Amino acid sequence: MNKRIILGVSGSIAAYKSPDIVRRLQDLGAEVRVILTGGGREFVSERSLQTVSKNKVHDNLWDSEAELSMGHIELAKWADVVIIAPASANTIAKLCHGKADDLLSTVILATSASVMVAPSMNQQMYASLAMKDNLELLQKRGVRIIDPGFGEQACGDVGEGRLAEPSEIARQASELFQNNALGGKRVLITIGGTVEAIDPVRFLSNHSSGKMGMALAYASIQAGAETTLVIGSISVDVEKRAKTIFVTSANEMHEAVMANIHDQDLFISCAAVADYRPTKVSPNKIKKDSDKQTIELVANKDILSDVCQLKDKPICIGFAAETENYINNANQKLKNKQCDAIILNDVSNSAIGFKSDDNEVYFIARDGTDKINKNSKQIVAEKIIKKITKEFF
Ligand SMILES: Cc1cc2nc3c(=O)[nH]c(=O)nc-3n(C[C@H](O)[C@H](O)[C@H](O)COP(=O)(O)O)c2cc1C
Repeated sequence: MNKRIILGVSGSIAAYKSPDIVRRLQDLGAEVRVILTGGGREFVSERSLQTVSKNKVHDNLWDSEAELSMGHIELAKWADVVIIAPASANTIAKLCHGKADDLLSTVILATSASVMVAPSMNQQMYASLAMKDNLELLQKRGVRIIDPGFGEQACGDVGEGRLAEPSEIARQASELFQNNALGGKRVLITIGGTVEAIDPVRFLSNHSSGKMGMALAYASIQAGAETTLVIGSISVDVEKRAKTIFVTSANEMHEAVMANIHDQDLFISCAAVADYRPTKVSPNKIKKDSDKQTIELVANKDILSDVCQLKDKPICIGFAAETENYINNANQKLKNKQCDAIILNDVSNSAIGFKSDDNEVYFIARDGTDKINKNSKQIVAEKIIKKITKEFF
């Protein structure tokens, strides 16, 4: 399936979030065109949506500039998916009745694309029997409903009816774009930083957020792989469709990987694993009783090397976060660890790498190096998984 998405924005106060939804959908690699209803126009500007979507915003059924004045048919045929977010009570009711009195409702009738609806309204409106019946009817017709959240609303009420988060809308949309490039394969990915205790309150760790690893997890699942994650310290949401094992230290991560590696086809070592840990962990909080303190460190086991040494090793991909001389260092790592490829990123550049939403990497295999240009971590992850699939499976 291509990734051509129409985002219908209707008259809910949450329409101001629609530019963010456009960006999240673009992060999936989608081209997005926006249809704005009359109600939607009251809450978000056409200019913002045109700027983020990089496309003209469509709002007029009677657009004489559209091909043969049939803009609704053109749009209906163009789309792979139509998402209405936010979907007002009025627009939902119109869909139920098959009305076609504006561009969005007419496109919905004319399209064979998948349709998703993200309701957004006051909690009492959402709880009404009419709304319940309407959503049930749409669901029966194959429309996918993106459930609203619970919480404080713009009107001051507290309850169910808040528009689902833009990231959740994009996540549900992306499930429609699954492919089977890694169908039947098993993938194990390590994610996040490790935490090495010094005493009961202090530790050594690093800046890893887990964003890149979780983006890879997502891409692996989208490619149809049965995906297991060994997760250290992270500050991102966990991919719910994966099997997850949570660990703290490098030793625990090593143990969890070794216990789960045997039937894997692909191992991606994305975690930022501490090379060293304190030789001794103080059982009590270390007191501030001198001007100097020395912490002696001992090397941790090397997870990637140990997996690469296994007799029936899976395809092994390592990550190298370097700050200098990086291509040489990464090539050295590829040789020393005997893995199949190294993904290198320059973490000295704060616009990419740790904590950033973007990344730019080099994919270094034995037969050559390819650059994956700067993009969102999700797109970079998708490209990495595609490259791995092409090279090794
Ligand atoms: C200030 C204000 C906020 C509104 N918020 C919502 C809302 O969050 N959800 C909703 O379904 N309707 C809301 N409405 C009502 C819709 O905007 C109205 O039903 C409109 O006709 C919807 O048009 P559309 O479905 O063509 O976009 C609101 C109206 C006003 C005046």
